[in-house]
Formats: sequence, structure tokens, C-alpha cells
Amino acid sequence: MARGETIAGLDIGTTKTCAVIAASGVDGLEILGIGEAPSTGMRKGVVTDLEETVRAIEAATERAERMAGVHVSHVYVGVTGEHMQSTNNRGVVAVTGEDREVIAPDVKRVVDASKIINLAADRQIIHALPRHYTIDGQDGVTDPVGMSGGRLEVDTHIVTGGASFIANVLKCVHRAGLETAGIVFEPLASSAATLLPEEKHVGVVLLDVGGGTTDIAVFVGGGVVHSATIPVGGNILTNDIALGLKTTFAEAENVKRIYGSGLLRADEEDQSFAVKTLDGRSTRDVTSSQLRAIVVPRVLEIFRLAKANIVDRIPRDQVLGEVVITGGGAHLRGIETAAADVFGLPVRIGVPSTIAGLTDAVRQPEYATAVGLVLFGPRGEQMPHLNGHGSGSFGKLWTWFTSIWN
Ligand SMILES: Nc1ncnc2c1ncn2[C@@H]1O[C@H](COP(=O)(O)OP(=O)(O)OP(=O)(O)O)[C@@H](O)[C@H]1O
Ligand SMILES: [Mg+2]
Repeated sequence: MARGETIAGLDIGTTKTCAVIAASGVDGLEILGIGEAPSTGMRKGVVTDLEETVRAIEAATERAERMAGVHVSHVYVGVTGEHMQSTNNRGVVAVTGEDREVIAPDVKRVVDASKIINLAADRQIIHALPRHYTIDGQDGVTDPVGMSGGRLEVDTHIVTGGASFIANVLKCVHRAGLETAGIVFEPLASSAATLLPEEKHVGVVLLDVGGGTTDIAVFVGGGVVHSATIPVGGNILTNDIALGLKTTFAEAENVKRIYGSGLLRADEEDQSFAVKTLDGRSTRDVTSSQLRAIVVPRVLEIFRLAKANIVDRIPRDQVLGEVVITGGGAHLRGIETAAADVFGLPVRIGVPSTIAGLTDAVRQPEYATAVGLVLFGPRGEQMPHLNGHGSGSFGKLWTWFTSIWN
């Protein structure tokens, strides 16, 4: 297969830095390589150690390049953190062409008009994502080019970020010898890799439970209506386990991965296992019910914080169909039941699935952001054109419809 230009994404997370390289082929984008390195200079989207972060970027990129057999010079960079904010805005312009037919520059002008918001000097606009257009009062237009009218309006989702936080991330990228092709708010990247157009149309909450943060994106009617980050992720569970069982963070992480569960009720007999003491010289017996008493309340708290963040920002009458959990935290056994309990919605685990060239090793929730960067970066968010929505297995979702504000 003839391969076109390569596209690379760089996700600098709290626990790991991940680079993905893809190239366009006949069937669309295909992943050629993925590389990973531990992150030790990044916390919750914020650079805490420049040199460490540069090293992690270099290592992850080099591994991806070796696997792909290509060299990359430009990367789409994921950004996240509490400094990220989002809002919805509207732009209006007059269609000026002689025959009053909307042309591409009109669309650019109207999206630019929607970017006029009150912006503090230390903040910058990262995205202005069109949700839908209105022409002479006719709303719900997904692609206005070629249509006739005098007044073109657009509803956009605007994402802004703290300029210095972003500058520090980009400085690390630059020092690692890479140019930034673009920046993408991470939950939007994760959404691009894991969500189906039908889900975005019906209404879906994407939660990327990482190590330090939980990134949120809410889609309704095909477009994003809310995006945010809350500063809690899977590492807080590990901390709680370390404190509760009086052991090291590393041992607590093992215990979490092997025995941890988000199930609200035990699904098996109480099990006993040995946990190393803080000095590592002896072990102590712990039961799965003791572990659950530590993990479950914290998992529920993460989802309650996410829900509170969403409820604040979405109209009260808005119905949603589903919650999709991705990010490394999605590996926690039974995490779906905790999310279902809090949101009162069906829940599925999201793995990268919307791109070719994926081996099972890449089809893991912790790679959703990195894979999504190569998808979302160059294309931006396009309004989906629904094919046969409401039919087949997806039709079932409608019967689950419920309001998360009940
Ligand atoms: N099997 C597992 N069970 C429970 N948690 C797991 C498992 N595997 C990984 N995790 C958790 O996933 C988290 C890391 O997820 P991820 O790799 O998505 O984070 P990140 O992108 O580095 O961080 P962030 O997005 O917060 O900056 C860690 O808290 C880790 O403990
Ligand atoms: Mg992440």
C-alpha cells in the first residue's frame, strides 16, 4: 500500500509519555508505530521538571520512530490540566457573495466571529469547534458551503488554556527536537479514538481516567458541548491504598492492578492476600473487602466530581445516552458499575478503535489520547454525517435514555 505523509501525536501524561506515528493509506490513516516512556516531569498536565519531560519525549518518540521505520519532525501535542476551560459561543456574519451562496471563507469568518470572547491576557484559544450552523434562521445545518442565504450563524465550542502552562509543554517538545504541528485538548483526542459518530449524536459522556487527571468531553447532536479536566485520576486510588494498607506506592499500585475493584458489591468470596510492609521486609495479610472499603468510595467520588462538573454546564433538560470510560484507569475491574451507579446510564470501556493498523497492544484505553491525536490533530472536528442512526444494535440505546439530573 502506498503510504502518504506521516502524522505523529504526543501525549505527555502524568504517568507515561506516548508517541504515535500514523500515515495515510488507501483505507485512511494507519498506525505505523507507538512508543512509550515513563513520565517523571509532568503532573496533572503541568510541567514540573523540564529536563525529565524532554527526556521522556525523546525516548517515547525514538521508540515510535524505530517501530514505524520513519523519522518525524512535527507532532500534534495533547494538552490538559486545570488551566483548561471551555465555553459555548455563537458567531454571526453576513454572506457577502453576489449570489448569496455560502463559500468556505464565509465559514471561516463566522467561526472566527464566534471566537470573540472575553479572554484574560494569560489565556489562549485552543479550539473553536463548530457544532452546527444556522442560515437565515434555518438551524441544524452541518455543512453550509453551497447553501444560499444572507445571514450565517454558527454555534461553536471554544476551548481555552493557560498560555504559560501550554508554553512550557511546547518548550519541552521543542527541546526534544520536534516542531509542534498543533495542540489538542486531550479529551477531544481520546473521543476521536474511541467514540462512534452515533454515540456523539445521541449524547455521550467521555471520561478519560488517567493517572493524575480525569478528562471529560460531552457530545450531543454530533458536536462537543462541554469539555473539562478534573484533577483526580487513578493515582489517587493508589495513594489511598498505600496509606490505608501502610505500604509503598509501588506495592499499592500492584495491589490495585491485581486485586482492586470498582464493583459496588463483592462478586466473590472474601480473598486474603499478602501486602509488603513499608520497609519491604515482611508482609501483612489483607482481605479483598478491606481493599474494597478503600477503593470503592474513591472511585465513586471521582465519578461524582465528574458528574458535578458536567451538570453545572449542560442544560438541565439535556438527555444523554451513555458514558464511555477510557484512560489507564479504565482497567480497574468493575469500574463500569461504579460509573453506572453515579450517572444512571449504561457504561462501556472505550479503547482506540477508529483507525487501522491497530494491534491488540495498542487497543488499550491508556492509548486513547495518543491515537486520537493523529486522528483529531489534522482533521479537526468535523460535523458527523450520520449513517443509519437509530437502527440495529444502536437502536437499543434509545430505550436507555435517561436524564443524569434525576
Ligand atoms: N490494571 C489496572 N487497574 C487499575 N488501574 C490501572 C491499571 N492499569 C493502569 N491503571 C491506572 O491508570 C492510570 C494511568 O493511566 P494513563 O496511562 O491513562 O495516565 P496518563 O495519561 O499518564 O495520566 P494523565 O492523563 O492523568 O496525565 C494510573 O493511575 C494506573 O494506576
Ligand atoms: Mg492521559
